[in-house]
Amino acid sequence: TDKKSKQVRVWVDGCFDMVHFGHANAVRQAKQMGDYLLVGVHSDAEVAKHKGPPVYNEEERYKMVRAIKWVDEVVEDAPYVTTLETLDKYDADFCVHGDDITTTADGQDTYHLVKAAERYKECKRTEGVSTTDLVGRMLLMTRTHHQRGSDTTVDKTEIGAIGQGHSARSPWTGVSQFLPTSNKIVQFSEGKEPKPGDKIVYVAGAFDLFNVGHLDFLQKAAAEGDYIIVGIHTDPVVNRYKGSNYPIMNLHERILSVLACRYVSEVVIGAPYSVSADLMNHFKVDTVCHGQTPIMSDVDGKDPYAIPKEQGKFKMLDSGNVLTTQAIIERIIRHRLDY
Ligand code: CTP
Ligand code: C5P
Repeated sequence: TDKKSKQVRVWVDGCFDMVHFGHANAVRQAKQMGDYLLVGVHSDAEVAKHKGPPVYNEEERYKMVRAIKWVDEVVEDAPYVTTLETLDKYDADFCVHGDDITTTADGQDTYHLVKAAERYKECKRTEGVSTTDLVGRMLLMTRTHHQRGSDTTVDKTEIGAIGQGHSARSPWTGVSQFLPTSNKIVQFSEGKEPKPGDKIVYVAGAFDLFNVGHLDFLQKAAAEGDYIIVGIHTDPVVNRYKGSNYPIMNLHERILSVLACRYVSEVVIGAPYSVSADLMNHFKVDTVCHGQTPIMSDVDGKDPYAIPKEQGKFKMLDSGNVLTTQAIIERIIRHRLDY
């Protein structure tokens, strides 16, 4: 075969439970090793058999992995042990995995076959983030703090008190062991400027524990324009309007999660809570969007979207998905005996 004209097809597989930027970084490195990236994602049954039941179901995991911008194709229900037959079936040259050992329920290296055939390459595992770590942060959160009720009204005195001090922050983001660097942000960035005439869409939020609800929302927002800017609020801002335990992921972690999404063109690192006229002008924003989730007032009691609304540039979207960070935490508590 003509080596030069043949694309290098790379295979990565995994559980991708509670898909995080560590997974995205593995996928990014794998894509750099070739031209076309196939990602095999294990079914719920396969994950349960070898590791215990996943927090996100297979439909959610398939969708989340598909939305990572370096992924060319998702192979659903990939086998837990990577075989040469699987690589051949998808015409993959080799398999990539992080530099940690993954074993089956019987303690066997899941990559022993591809390693023996020298069709295995390693990428660098991202230190300081894992599904287990994120679940741990969430359980820690529920152990020492009462759960917020199912109603969405928030105690105004509590919010007011937190809003007073600039030092207000979530106690849980300090738990993060991840060391963010400028290089990682560059690697995750799209690096593209808007083209003349591009319709600019701006959205803002916490984007804590980036999930399929956020994804559905960003997909809808992306359909409203050509260039999507996501404003990500700082930890104290999120803490003020989400309650005393949030966010679970710190600003830098939330930035990387959002940047890994294929619908996102650019992020604003620590966006102001209220969308100002300056921000609208600076980014030449055509439309500001928000989903169906409640919009909390700013510290001055004003609607954070007052300016874009006055300018006739505000649009409510319906992601069609009711998943929230809170709901994910409830899933974990419900099944906590299983983890
Ligand atoms: N991965 C990584 N860095 C992390 C977590 C995962 O590079 N912090 C990589 C794994 O090495 C693997 C891929 O992501 O190549 C997807 O694998 P998965 O089976 O989901 O990884 P786990 O190691 O089980 O992920 P976690 O520890 O978060 O559960
Ligand atoms: O809650 P958070 O600030 O992270 O949400 C960011 C954006 O995503 C908001 O506009 C919110 O309405 C939207 N969203 C959505 N559907 C979900 C979760 C979030 O439309 N299930």
